[in-house]
Parts: sequence; C-alpha cells; structure tokens
Amino acid sequence: MSGSSLPSALALSLVLVSLSLLPGPGVAQNEPRILTSEEVIIRESPGPVTLQCNLTSNSHTLAFSYWTKNGVELTATRKNASNMEYRINKPRAEDSGEYHCVYHFVNAPKANATIEVKAAPDITGHKRSENKNEGQDAMMYCKSVGYPYPEWIWRKKENGMLVDIVNSSGRFFITNKENYTELSITNLQITEDPGEYECNATNSVGTASVVTILRVRSHLAPLWPFLGILAEIIILVVIIVVYEKRKRPDEVPDDDEPAGPMKTNSTNNHKDKNLRQRNTN
Ligand SMILES: *[C@@H]1O[C@H](CO)[C@@H](O)[C@H](O)[C@H]1NC(C)=O
Ligand SMILES: *[C@@H]1O[C@H](CO)[C@@H](O)[C@H](O)[C@H]1NC(C)=O
Ligand SMILES: *[C@@H]1O[C@H](CO)[C@@H](O)[C@H](O)[C@H]1NC(C)=O
Ligand SMILES: *[C@@H]1O[C@H](CO)[C@@H](O)[C@H](O)[C@H]1NC(C)=O
Ligand SMILES: *[C@@H]1O[C@H](CO)[C@@H](O)[C@H](O)[C@H]1NC(C)=O
Ligand SMILES: *[C@@H]1O[C@H](CO)[C@@H](O)[C@H](O)[C@H]1NC(C)=O
Repeated sequence: MSGSSLPSALALSLVLVSLSLLPGPGVAQNEPRILTSEEVIIRESPGPVTLQCNLTSNSHTLAFSYWTKNGVELTATRKNASNMEYRINKPRAEDSGEYHCVYHFVNAPKANATIEVKAAPDITGHKRSENKNEGQDAMMYCKSVGYPYPEWIWRKKENGMLVDIVNSSGRFFITNKENYTELSITNLQITEDPGEYECNATNSVGTASVVTILRVRSHLAPLWPFLGILAEIIILVVIIVVYEKRKRPDEVPDDDEPAGPMKTNSTNNHKDKNLRQRNTN
C-alpha cells in the first residue's frame, strides 16, 4: 500500500483509543478498541486512498458511526457499522487533514480514533501585488491547503537575497493562523518598502512559496490628475488672455471691416441717389 518506506510492523502500528470511559478496573476491560489503517501521505499523482477503522473490542451496543475531517462530520458517512471505510478516489492536498472515525454507543460514551492524511502545503490564495501610497498601511496574505498546518515565514528580496522579516520589528506585523498568514506594514516608506515579498509555507511533507509585489507611490501621486486639470485650465486661461490682448490693437481695423459694407452701402446709396437723380433728371 502507500507506506512503502515504512516497515510493515510500523505500518500496522495501531492506534489504541481509550476513551472517556471512566476509571474503575472493571470498566477498563470494556473500553472500545479501534484498529485503524496507517497514516497517509498524499504525493504527486497518487492512487485512491482508503481509510479504515475496525471496532475490535466493545461490550456496548453500537448506535451509529461516521467520519469527521478536521472535526466536521463528513456527509453521508453515517452508518451502523463497526468496520468503517472512507475512500478518497483522487486525493489532493486539500483532502489532507485530521480524520476521525467516531463510534456512538447506546448508553455509553462515544469513542473515536485518528488517521492523519498528510500533504505538502499548497498556497491557494495570495495577492499578486499591493499598491499603496506612502504613509498608508499595506496588508499581504497567503492561505494554504496541506496538513500538517505549515510554519509560515515572510521574506523580502533585498539585492537578490531573501531576508527574513521579524514580527513586530518596527513597522512589520505578522499574524499566523493554521492555514493563513498575514503581513502588515504600517506607515509605508517610499524609499525602503517597495519590492518583492515572499511567503513561505513549510511542513513535514514539503514546502511552497509565492511572491507579492508591493508598490508605494508618492503621496503627491493621487493629486496628479487634479494638478493636470489645474495646469490645463491655467494654460487655457493664459492662451485666452494672450489672444485677447493681441486682439485689442487690431480692434480699429476690425471695427472698420463691418464699416466696409456700410461704405459700399453708402456708395450704393450714392448710386441710388445718382439713379434717383438720374431718374429725376
Ligand atoms: C478491518 O476489517 C476488514 C474486514 O474484516 C479488513 O479487511 C481490514 O484489513 C481491517 N482493517 C484494519 C485497519 O484492521
Ligand atoms: C446496529 O447494529 C447492531 C448489530 O447489528 C444492532 O444490535 C443495533 O440495534 C443497531 N443499531 C441501530 C441504531 O440500528
Ligand atoms: C475524539 O475523542 C477525543 C477524546 O475523547 C475528543 O476530545 C474529541 O473531540 C473526539 N473527536 C471527535 C471528532 O469526535
Ligand atoms: C507578532 O507580534 C504580535 C505582538 O506584537 C503578536 O500579537 C502576534 O501573535 C505575533 N505573531 C506571530 C506570528 O508571532
Ligand atoms: C483553512 O482554510 C479554510 C478555507 O480556505 C477555512 O475554511 C478553514 O477554517 C481554515 N482552517 C482550518 C483549520 O482548516
Ligand atoms: C521555504 O523556507 C525553507 C526554510 O528556509 C526552505 O528550506 C524552503 O526551500 C523554502 N521554500 C521555498 C518554496 O522556497
């Protein structure tokens, strides 16, 4: 099966789960015993995986049993069966986690056993870039699938080298959850902060990292469109003023032009008068 690297004795190592059946020497013999299949490591292009639990020693009547993943009941796994199987046909990193088979009894505490399904971290969410103004705060994050939950490290590329970022050092703050990490930088500095930031997730199976590019703009930057419009208005006003000033010396000939037709009118009038005079003649 999948544990090719493990000795078969270890592969068969069983998880004995002794449960909250409470003390008393007589009672201990009645504790349910659950035999489980070994832990699973999901690697590249794995075949189907089957998790098994067998209830081997129990003096109580079984009511029902089911599977949970990370504490959440898996739908449609509830049965009245002491031998349980859960099959993952195409296992992927997101199928990794802590699986439990849970047995409920009539008039007795429930019992469970754990099977770990492990996978290297895979970073499934992050920002490609973060664009902010100097003085503002930046926030970058990464979220992962893969189990065990990874150790997170944030690094910054400085002259081609990756330098670890230390939490709460100056303006840098790191918040880690099981499958999520967040880096905040407060009061952004245009000289030192822009660049490539890497989040690195590492667990016992493998490692993954992704990069976020932080850009920091001068705080004048948001004013540029406004300043552009202002400049346009000023240039326009200057052009109009200059044009108006140039127009003024030309005012006399300009006024003469409309007078032109009047002259011709008057000559026409003269002609008319002449005509009239001729007519009268
Ligand atoms: C559980 O029982 C089944 C059927 O008896 C057997 O094939 C399987 O190997 C057992 N699994 C474990 C983990 O003991
Ligand atoms: C579960 O199966 C057992 C044995 O077959 C039986 O005694 C018990 O009543 C069943 N429980 C339920 C809730 O059906
Ligand atoms: C398994 O049993 C332990 C110990 O009783 C308990 O703390 C835990 O919540 C149980 N888990 C599940 C999934 O039932
Ligand atoms: C970083 O430091 C803050 C306190 O300044 C703390 O609350 C937080 O848990 C720390 N984060 C990590 C990942 O250690
Ligand atoms: C991990 O991430 C998922 C969503 O990506 C979230 O629902 C879940 O609560 C997180 N935590 C654990 C412990 O899986
Ligand atoms: C993440 O950091 C670890 C520890 O420094 C390193 O061994 C590993 O190669 C890094 N992973 C990636 C994907 O760069």
